[in-house]
Amino acid sequence: MLKSIPKGSLFFAPMEGITDEAFRKTILKLYPEWDYLATDFLRVPSAGHYPRKFIIRHFGKDLSNDENVKNKTMFQILTSHRAFTIDMVKEIVDLGYPWLDINLGCPSNTVTKNGGGSSLLLELDLLQTLMKNIRTHFPGRLTAKVRTGFHHTNDFDSIIKLLNDAGVELITVHGRTRDMMYKVPAEWSYIERATQISQVPIIGNGDVWNTEDIDRMLHQTCCHGVMVARGALKSPWMAQDYKRGHFTETASERTQRIKIFFKEYRTQLEQENISDRGLIKQTKSLSRFMFEGIESGEKHRRNLLLGQTVDEIYSVIEGL
Ligand SMILES: Cc1cc2nc3c(=O)[nH]c(=O)nc-3n(C[C@H](O)[C@H](O)[C@H](O)COP(=O)(O)O)c2cc1C
Repeated sequence: MLKSIPKGSLFFAPMEGITDEAFRKTILKLYPEWDYLATDFLRVPSAGHYPRKFIIRHFGKDLSNDENVKNKTMFQILTSHRAFTIDMVKEIVDLGYPWLDINLGCPSNTVTKNGGGSSLLLELDLLQTLMKNIRTHFPGRLTAKVRTGFHHTNDFDSIIKLLNDAGVELITVHGRTRDMMYKVPAEWSYIERATQISQVPIIGNGDVWNTEDIDRMLHQTCCHGVMVARGALKSPWMAQDYKRGHFTETASERTQRIKIFFKEYRTQLEQENISDRGLIKQTKSLSRFMFEGIESGEKHRRNLLLGQTVDEIYSVIEGL
């Protein structure tokens, strides 16, 4: 039985292509102040099934042996009505993962065209059957991450109630519809609305960029906890700052932290025997938000993106 989630908890959001094992190990080591983490989504296959090894690798081979980490990490799946969801749920149960999160928010065309992610919000009867079915087969902590709707928010209340009725134990609300993608500011009023109608805790998500935003979201929406995605890529140390009451950061402090982060991240990637190409790709993709807010950040980022070898890109980071 998992312990209940304390009020004010901070969640590092699932991010495809980013929150893999090496990344989560880096976060766990440097910034244990994040209360909860998530795997990026694992797509449930519509034909055949994944070998167990593949599922374990998605969560992380080493992390799968750590009960403490398993208890604080949501294993997220992305499914559709065509996919073999229950087979996958049973595998996750057999492998001993205690926390399953259902992705009801992914907006990408490839995913929604195949009936997955946010498009599951289009037909609520079918969604209810799916969620109840998952609940029947998953005895652990079942949670869901939703957008406020697909084209519009007219069904928002029904979605939250449906998830409550299906036995979901915690709901993360990203305050945007699928059609909004990432364009407009996240509408926190829907997070507040969810807290008013849900019997289970609501985690707020969307446009938390700094420690002050964490406070604002908690107070403005009365949400139970806060999940941070892009802001946590910009400042992976945000939870540490928040818990230490550290609300400002100088450019030079930020520069030092970036160096420390990438040093550890490189170590973790190398321990996985990643190819140079993989290491370069992952490091470049992480620089997107992190170089904001340091002196000549744009220039340094351009130089990093031009780097062709591991030495070249890491010399840009060391020279910041
Ligand atoms: C690169 C990237 C990958 C993402 N991958 C996932 C994912 O695998 N599962 C998921 O539920 N959300 C995913 N998201 C959405 C985020 O978890 C989050 O809901 C969204 O970015 C809004 O939060 P933010 O304003 O703090 O970034 C992704 C977002 C980004 C930027």
